[in-house]
Amino acid sequence: MALITWNDNLSVNVQEIDLQHKKLVGMLNDLHEAMMQGKGSEAMGKIINGMIEYAGIHFQTEEKYFVKFGYLEAGSHKREHTDFVNKVNKFKQEFDKDSFTLTFNVLQFLSDWLKNHIMVVDKKYSRLFNEKGLR
Ligand SMILES: [Fe+2]
Repeated sequence: MALITWNDNLSVNVQEIDLQHKKLVGMLNDLHEAMMQGKGSEAMGKIINGMIEYAGIHFQTEEKYFVKFGYLEAGSHKREHTDFVNKVNKFKQEFDKDSFTLTFNVLQFLSDWLKNHIMVVDKKYSRLFNEKGLR
């Protein structure tokens, strides 16, 4: 069973960003699946590294539009991104020391963060982005 199921409540009404969010959701589900199947730390480490890398690319995309469209809440939004990157990097360091530290609780935290961030924080830019012609 997937950890997060994509639904329209997660759409920010911008196709490029929805696709990136879907990919992140997919990566979290892959990690959950790997954990449930008892996959080795090497396979799981690869997924985590992929997630860290892709989250970085995704945050850069959003932040590029913040600058381009003069988004007023860019500062606090970017701080959320930085906090998240720091937390995930910390999980990765702990995972590298002992792969058993990656528990369901960690995955639950990541998926809750992502859902909450998309539905509460990301959705705030939808209107501005749409008004600037981005859909
Ligand atoms: Fe965001």
